[in-house]
Formats: sequence, C-alpha cells, structure tokens
Amino acid sequence: MSSVKASIALLCLTTFSNLVSAWPGPKSYVNIKTRSEQIADEYDYIIVGGGTSGLTVGDRLTEDGKSTVLVLEHGFYGGPITLDPTRMYNITSVPQPHLNDRRFNVGIGNIVGGSSAVNGMVFLRGTREEYDAWAELGGPNSTWTWEGILPYFKKGITLAPPDPAQAKEFNITYSMDYWGTTSKIFGSFGKGAMGGVMKVLYSAMKKMPGMTVPIDSGAGETGLYWYPLSQDPNTYARSYARSGHWDGLNRTNYELLVGAKVNGLLFDGDNATGVTFLSRNETNSTIHSVRARKEVILAAGAVHTPQILILSGIGPSAFLKEADIPIKIDLPGVGHNFQDHSYIPSVGFQWGIVPTANVSNPGSGSGAAPNLATMIGMPVISPDNFEAIAQRYADQDPTQYLPSSYDETLKEGFKAQHAVNTKFLRSKHVTFLEIMVRGPGGSVQNLHPMSRGTILPDPKNPTSEMIVDYNAGANPTDIDVMVENIRFMRRFMTTGDLAQYEAKETMPGANVTTDEDLAEWARQVIIPSVYHPIGTCAKVPREHGGVVDEDLLVYGTKKLSIIDSSIHPLLVGATTSMTVYAVAEKAADIIKARNS
Ligand SMILES: Cc1cc2nc3c(=O)[nH]c(=O)nc-3n(C[C@H](O)[C@H](O)[C@H](O)COP(=O)(O)OP(=O)(O)OC[C@H]3O[C@@H](n4cnc5c(N)ncnc54)[C@H](O)[C@@H]3O)c2cc1C
Ligand SMILES: *[C@@H]1O[C@H](CO)[C@@H](O)[C@H](O)[C@H]1NC(C)=O
Ligand SMILES: *[C@@H]1O[C@H](CO)[C@@H](O)[C@H](O)[C@H]1NC(C)=O
Ligand SMILES: *[C@@H]1O[C@H](CO)[C@@H](O)[C@H](O)[C@H]1NC(C)=O
Ligand SMILES: *[C@@H]1O[C@H](CO)[C@@H](O)[C@H](O)[C@H]1NC(C)=O
Ligand SMILES: *[C@@H]1O[C@H](CO)[C@@H](O)[C@H](O)[C@H]1NC(C)=O
Ligand SMILES: *[C@@H]1O[C@H](CO)[C@@H](O)[C@H](O)[C@H]1NC(C)=O
Ligand SMILES: *[C@@H]1O[C@H](CO)[C@@H](O)[C@H](O)[C@H]1NC(C)=O
Ligand SMILES: *[C@@H]1O[C@H](CO)[C@@H](O)[C@H](O)[C@H]1NC(C)=O
Ligand SMILES: *[C@@H]1O[C@H](CO)[C@@H](O)[C@H](O)[C@H]1NC(C)=O
Repeated sequence: MSSVKASIALLCLTTFSNLVSAWPGPKSYVNIKTRSEQIADEYDYIIVGGGTSGLTVGDRLTEDGKSTVLVLEHGFYGGPITLDPTRMYNITSVPQPHLNDRRFNVGIGNIVGGSSAVNGMVFLRGTREEYDAWAELGGPNSTWTWEGILPYFKKGITLAPPDPAQAKEFNITYSMDYWGTTSKIFGSFGKGAMGGVMKVLYSAMKKMPGMTVPIDSGAGETGLYWYPLSQDPNTYARSYARSGHWDGLNRTNYELLVGAKVNGLLFDGDNATGVTFLSRNETNSTIHSVRARKEVILAAGAVHTPQILILSGIGPSAFLKEADIPIKIDLPGVGHNFQDHSYIPSVGFQWGIVPTANVSNPGSGSGAAPNLATMIGMPVISPDNFEAIAQRYADQDPTQYLPSSYDETLKEGFKAQHAVNTKFLRSKHVTFLEIMVRGPGGSVQNLHPMSRGTILPDPKNPTSEMIVDYNAGANPTDIDVMVENIRFMRRFMTTGDLAQYEAKETMPGANVTTDEDLAEWARQVIIPSVYHPIGTCAKVPREHGGVVDEDLLVYGTKKLSIIDSSIHPLLVGATTSMTVYAVAEKAADIIKARNS
C-alpha cells in the first residue's frame, strides 16, 4: 500500500539509520509468564497492556517491593524494530471519503513495550498553551496544566546533553530546567556528522518572519529547535518502555503475562475486580480470569482500550444495543473524539545550487546526527491568511462536521474544543506545522486537525478487530491549514536566505498555486495518521462526553482507571510518546495516593 510506504519513508528520514536497536537480552525472563496456569489468582493491581503507559505505571507501583502487579500483554517478548509488521497489529482504516476514498494503515505496536517498541523515536513534547487547554477542557481546578505535568516530564525522562563541540558549532542549545536525571527512559542527541547544509538551513529558517528560537525543545514553546531521540546516550539503542520500565528490574512483585488477550472486565457492583482473557498459545479458547484487589488499570492504547470497555457493557448505549451487549454504563465518549496528526509526505524540491558552509566540528560520527525541527503556529505559518482561516472556523456550527454517532454530551464537549481550537488558530504558541528540517523540501504535518473520527468494534462481531474511521478532512479547516503549510515550505525554499540556491519545486509543482488547486492536491496526498491515535476515552467532564475523570477513574465505576493515550482530550503539537510517559508518571502518583 502506497500510504504505508510513504510512512516508512518519513520515519526513515526522521530517524536516519537507527531502525534496529540492540536487544539487551531477556534479563527478567524469570517474571515473564507465557501460560495462564503460571500466574496467581489475585494481584493488587492488574494492568491491561504492557506498552508505553502500562510498563511505566507497572514499574512505579512495584517500586515499593510490596504491591503486586500483573501486566497482561497481547503481544510477545522480542526485539524492537521500527514499523516491523510482525510486531504490530495489522489494521487498515475504512475508506476516507474526504481523502479520495483512500484507506490507511493504522500502525500500533503489539509487543512487550507497545508502540514505543516500533515508533520513530522522535522525542518531543507540546507547548504550555496546549497542556493548559487540557486543564481548560477538564473543568475547574484541573491540575492537568503545563505546570502540573512538567514535574512528570522531569520524572519520566532523563536528558543526555549533546556533544559540546558539535553543539557549539551548530548552536544546539538545551536547558536542564525541563528534564530529569533519574528515569531510565532517555532522550539523547546522536553525534553523527553534519554537513554545512544544516547551518544554512538553520540560519535561513531562523530568519523566517516571526520565527523564534527557544532554548530547548522541552521548554513548551514553539519555534525552531534541535531535539533528542528516545535512545540510549551511549549505545544509541532504542530507549523505550521495556528497556526503561521492565528489563533488569527482576522484581518478584512485578509479573508480565505475554500472549494474553484481555476481552472483558469483572465487576462486583460498581467495583472492578478483575479481567477475563484468552491465551494466544492455547488453541481451545478457554476464557481465563484474574482478580485485582486494589485496581484494574487499562493501558491497551487508544485503539483497544475502547474495545475492552465496550465488550464489558461500558460505552455508547446506542452502539451497545446494536451490538446486543447488555448495558452496564452508558458512556457515549467511548471510541469517540478520535484524533491523529496528519501529513503530506513530500512537498518536493531539488536544489539548483547545493548550499555549503564551513564546518569545524561536524560530530564524532556516533549515532544519528542531531535533528532539527520547525514547530510553529498559524500566525507564523501564514501571516496573511491565518486570521481569515480562524474566522471561518469560528463561524462554523461546531457540530456540523462531527460523526453522526455524536450524542448531545459529545457535541457539548466539542463546542468547548471548538472554542479552544479557535484560540489555537490565532496563537503563536500552538504548533500547527511540524517540519523536520533537512531540506530540500520535505514533509509537512498538521498537528491540530479539527475533524474527529471514531474507533469502535464491528457491532456484528465486537470481538474482532476494531473499525478505525479517521473521518479525516471532513472539516475544511484541516485542508485550509495544510494549504498554508505547503505555502510556508515554498516561501522557506524560495525566498530569503535560500533564494540564492534556486531550488526547483517537484511536488506539487510551482504552477499549482490557487487555494482550490492546492486543496485538491492535498486531498489526494494527505495521510491522516502519524501513528499518534489519542482521545477515544477522553479525560473531560462526563457531561462533555468524557470517559474518565480528573483522577483517571472511569465514570460510573470504582477501582477502574485508564492511563494510556486514549485519555488525552486533545492532541498536543508534538509526537505523542513523551506525553504518554508523563501522563503515566502522573497517573502512577494518583493511583498510589488513593490506594495507600
Ligand atoms: C509506527 C509508529 C511510529 C511512531 N512514531 C513516534 C515517534 O517518532 N515519536 C513519538 O513520540 N511517538 C511515536 N509514535 C506514537 C507513540 O509511540 C504512542 O503514542 C505511544 O507509544 C502509545 O502508548 P500507549 O501506552 O497509549 O499504547 P501502546 O504503547 O501502544 O500500548 C498498548 C499495548 O496494549 C496491548 N494490548 C492491546 N489490546 C490488548 C488486549 N486486549 N489485551 C492485552 N493487551 C492489549 C498492545 O499490544 C500494546 O502493547 C509512533 C507510534 C507508532 C506505532
Ligand atoms: C532475579 O531474582 C531471582 C530471585 O530474586 C534471582 O534468583 C535471579 O538470579 C535474578 N535474576 C537476574 C537476571 O538478576
Ligand atoms: C494484513 O491483513 C491483510 C488482509 O486482512 C493480509 O492480506 C495481509 O497479509 C496481512 N499482513 C500481515 C503482515 O499479516
Ligand atoms: C476550585 O477551587 C476553589 C478554591 O479552592 C474552590 O472554592 C472550588 O469549590 C473548586 N471548584 C471545584 C469544582 O472543585
Ligand atoms: C544560538 O541560540 C541562542 C539561544 O537560542 C541564541 O541566543 C543565539 O543567537 C543563537 N546563535 C546563532 C548563531 O544562531
Ligand atoms: C467496593 O469497594 C469498596 C472499597 O473497597 C467497598 O467498601 C465496597 O463494599 C465494595 N462494593 C462491593 C459491591 O463489593
Ligand atoms: C506462544 O506463541 C508464540 C507465537 O506463536 C511463540 O513464539 C511462543 O514460542 C509460544 N510460547 C509457548 C510457551 O508456547
Ligand atoms: C485448554 O488448553 C490449556 C493448555 O493448552 C489447558 O490448560 C486447559 O485445561 C484447556 N482447557 C480445556 C477446556 O480443555
Ligand atoms: C570556508 O572557509 C574558507 C577559508 O576560510 C573560505 O575561503 C570559504 O569562502 C569558506 N566557505 C564558505 C562556504 O563559507
Ligand atoms: C502543472 O504542470 C503540470 C506539468 O506540466 C501539469 O500536469 C499540471 O496539470 C499543472 N497543474 C496546474 C494546476 O496547472
């Protein structure tokens, strides 16, 4: 499928040659269980999903040496490889009518470590204003602000600084105000050699009107900056949930059952008391169960956490009726509010003259070269058109482009998001465009799509694979933004400092200039996913279609929480894994506090 190939190309570009990471060996195999009869009947905590968030919380809850945790993971234990199909679910979206009926690969990890084992390792976080919007949507006194989450970025991620000589040469700055030193999840800069072209691109981008240069990629600001990858600073191996929160821990109170497909929740009244699961190594489809004394914690990711809830009767009542599942709790938000970043794989250019500059300290050659990103808001992307785009969006009936299954509560919730999005479109401090700067040309991403999709089971066969509908491009603002993103790339490549290099546009072609022609091209080439699904069990008030409350407890239940990317109410303008780690760290503190 061409969209899959394009995505692989994008990831290769963003991570250079760091595709296969070393596999340090099965240090804690002792606590890895492969058969249902190897586990106990009951644990303090059951965590569903041994992925990015699940292993982070599992580590933190077992640090005391006392609390017992069982993690149930659908995948198996093995080495991580970016985008390896044997380590991922094989899901294709439904055709997308607003993107010429194309279907898209829904990549998510299916291995111990989850999506952090197969991701592109681009390690970024959103801006202050984006996290503050989470609190605004969360209701009065929400602690999910930038200030409330920053301590957990610091707890969750250790930064290894760049090579000093290379940093001086290329102006790679950083500040430890935004990072920690204790986590075994690392962000680090490779020292791979860089050519003079990066200097030329950096200083040309810096001079684009309105551009700012924050001191650090983690400062919560927009602009032009160098950023780390999630990799070990010494070996350059992938740093991910398994290496940071499982391998080497060897705790008798921390167990992992692999090949376990959780398919339901057990309740005693409102209290969640355990889960049911199938073992993939058994051919006889026996349904097993295991109980939790304190809490059941869902971490199966934005695609599958909604499925487990719905199979247990927690979800939109209309859907549950259609699927003939007895209704336990009517929660219309389950499987709704689905968002992902979207991108155009290439706005193509060729240099007329290849830029050069003298370089004294190119880098030691170890690991990938440091990466440079442009992360900017609409007033910088399009000083001339952003206000008109924002006004057209503000004038929309907020409910106009939503999926037909949105009920009144979800519509209320989206009205609140519409107000936030309107502010976002006018803000310099919210990232709409991401460019991985290495030139000439390249991919452009839209980090704040306004369209909302759904991830729901097949009502006729709810245990089979989920049906993913991005509903991408439904809201015309998403196309308006992408058109301005293309134009920004054009201005960067052909005006200012870079004009002298006489770059020639190969895609879509310099003759494609009108709003209409650019929009038509965009609808043919946009890919509606950068593998960052979120939002399908949002942390917003129940009367706004929320699924979990401020403390991540599922509405209408007790002792049942969700900690994965499904609770993010709104995309931030950054790749998602670092935010998943921070949310999981905060979640672990909340869960520990209420069970102590
Ligand atoms: C190909 C790809 C590239 C990406 N690139 C980047 C990038 O460069 N930078 C970045 O920051 N982010 C990137 N991301 C996104 C990021 O990795 C994810 O947002 C994040 O890892 C999600 O964490 P999670 O805990 O929500 O879910 P996951 O890490 O996906 O964990 C969910 C786990 O639950 C398991 N599971 C699911 N259903 C069940 C069930 N029924 N029973 C038991 N277990 C179950 C799954 O097998 C999986 O292991 C990428 C993702 C992918 C897939
Ligand atoms: C793990 O711990 C057990 C007992 O606590 C010990 O016997 C074993 O050697 C340890 N394994 C590793 C790899 O440290
Ligand atoms: C994915 O599924 C499709 C059809 O459902 C199948 O043709 C393809 O072989 C599968 N790919 C892998 C890697 O299993
Ligand atoms: C928010 O905090 C204020 C001040 O502490 C308090 O008076 C108010 O009741 C709180 N509101 C909610 C909804 O918790
Ligand atoms: C390097 O970055 C710092 C901090 O952002 C800035 O003050 C300085 O002007 C930059 N230098 C160059 C040469 O761009
Ligand atoms: C649910 O859990 C609470 C707290 O542990 C307990 O007091 C209550 O009796 C439980 N309810 C049921 C129905 O078991
Ligand atoms: C379980 O199944 C997986 C995948 O088929 C296989 O790799 C593994 O060896 C099996 N484990 C056991 C204990 O049978
Ligand atoms: C199913 O298989 C497992 C192991 O393969 C076995 O332990 C279990 O008893 C079997 N169940 C039934 C109902 O046969
Ligand atoms: C590189 O340095 C040399 C010697 O100082 C100088 O002549 C040349 O113009 C420089 N080249 C560039 C591209 O700056
Ligand atoms: C641009 O030029 C190409 C190549 O000549 C042509 O195929 C295409 O139709 C033109 N597009 C527009 C919008 O003029």
